[in-house]
Amino acid sequence: MALQRRLVLAALTVGSLLCIYILCVNLEGPLSWSVVPLSPVPGTSSSSRDSEEPLDRKRHGASTFHPEISTGTAPHETTRAPPTPPAPQAPPTRQQGVPGVSGSRTSTRGPTQATGPTEPPFIGDTYMTEDIPPQTNCSDGVGTRVATTEFAGRFLKRVPVLQWANHVSPEQHRRLSNYPGAHGWGGLDYKTLEETLSVLNSSANRQLLDDWSERRNGSECIRCAVVGNGGILKDSRKGKEIDGHHYVFRTNGAVIEGFEQDVGSRTTHYTFSTNTLMNSMRSYAGVGYRGPPLSQETRYVFLPDHDRDYLLVKAAATHTAVGRGPERAKDPTRYFGEDVSAEKLKMYHPDFIRYLRNRFLRSNALKTRYKNIYRPSTGAVMLLAALHACDQVSAYGFMTPDYKNYSDHYYDSSYHAVGFFINHDLRMEMSLWQQLHQAGLMRLYMHQ
Ligand SMILES: *[C@@H]1O[C@H](CO)[C@@H](O)[C@H](O)[C@H]1NC(C)=O
Ligand SMILES: *[C@@H]1O[C@H](CO)[C@@H](O)[C@H](O)[C@H]1NC(C)=O
Ligand SMILES: *[C@@H]1O[C@H](CO)[C@@H](O)[C@H](O)[C@H]1NC(C)=O
Ligand SMILES: *[C@@H]1O[C@H](CO)[C@@H](O)[C@H](O)[C@H]1NC(C)=O
Repeated sequence: MALQRRLVLAALTVGSLLCIYILCVNLEGPLSWSVVPLSPVPGTSSSSRDSEEPLDRKRHGASTFHPEISTGTAPHETTRAPPTPPAPQAPPTRQQGVPGVSGSRTSTRGPTQATGPTEPPFIGDTYMTEDIPPQTNCSDGVGTRVATTEFAGRFLKRVPVLQWANHVSPEQHRRLSNYPGAHGWGGLDYKTLEETLSVLNSSANRQLLDDWSERRNGSECIRCAVVGNGGILKDSRKGKEIDGHHYVFRTNGAVIEGFEQDVGSRTTHYTFSTNTLMNSMRSYAGVGYRGPPLSQETRYVFLPDHDRDYLLVKAAATHTAVGRGPERAKDPTRYFGEDVSAEKLKMYHPDFIRYLRNRFLRSNALKTRYKNIYRPSTGAVMLLAALHACDQVSAYGFMTPDYKNYSDHYYDSSYHAVGFFINHDLRMEMSLWQQLHQAGLMRLYMHQ
């Protein structure tokens, strides 16, 4: 009798585990990898919540049954090195001063050599270059300061931050097809690419800060506030200061309503990928996240991971329903408002993302079997993009060495430890923010 009861119980347990597992796999879809957790690092909480792609918030327990985890807690992940200075091996100014590109506005050939002897081809430290005249002559901006810092050799001023209509060609498609995910056009068919980028054909699509001339009001320098979602912002009362910048950048589950005193209310640039946006809308509805901020001054900056990003951009620009993929038949005005137009949409260039990964956030994850799912976090891309487009950057709500003192997000109703996942390297990012702050290239909000 007792044995029978135990058997039934065991069967039930196995059954429910299986259900949870299947649910997990279904919800994630084959291309979504945002819940693959990094095994707990000694001394940190074992929370498996991802600080930026919140898919797992609801499935905290369930994610333990993700197939990647049973086999994926590889020793090299648990023994991963503590924060190290990013990428000292990143090659110095190879691209600057490369001859042979003068005259043409865009060029693929940067360095004369694509990879060094120790670099595998997937790194691809060769980028398109584009000559866009600087928007200011600010004498005290990132662009002038960087030359005297340790970052001088890593910064490339001519890598396009955004991709737009002029960048599509069969030759570029062939070149970028070598890199998957956010780092190229791998897996993206030419027709989809062409149909999307051809609508991004205005000057607003190639410039991150497209309306500077209307905003400058006599200012010599462009000042940007870049707002992450970190718990350090709770009770910070930084809202007014943040809103006082020319531009205000936000990302993913940026809940504003009710938190204005701490985080401000304006959003000029909202950065996300379609995957992270959908995850945020699912996971943070309970704390008041309804979707991307909607205001006249808001621009939507896509970090494209998959073809679903290209499909959503095209739908939003043309006010048509999404043609296929996970967002099929969805109405884009649901996310970006009735006033959305091609001029309000921007997409990061895959060369820019790859450049950031290679030269600023070259994580040890690239030496593991997770190399294809690793990328800089959405917040990191947003902050580094601001450093390439603004003259002066203040960063708020980004991870600091005392991160354990704060909850994951400023809008968490109770304390949640920051979660670490193998698709990002938040420790490396934290250490990069410290270095950029110490080098005087940005101002990072910290408590001490
Ligand atoms: C910067 O200065 C140069 C030379 O004085 C001038 O030609 C250019 O128009 C200026 N650019 C801006 C954005 O003010
Ligand atoms: C951009 O493309 C749209 C249609 O795709 C066209 O109507 C418009 O004239 C183009 N604009 C420019 C500046 O080429
Ligand atoms: C423009 O600058 C002037 C002088 O600094 C200031 O009084 C005014 O409020 C500014 N206008 C706007 C729209 O920011
Ligand atoms: C963070 O917490 C540690 C101990 O938990 C404490 O010593 C430290 O002062 C705290 N720092 C801040 C900025 O609150």
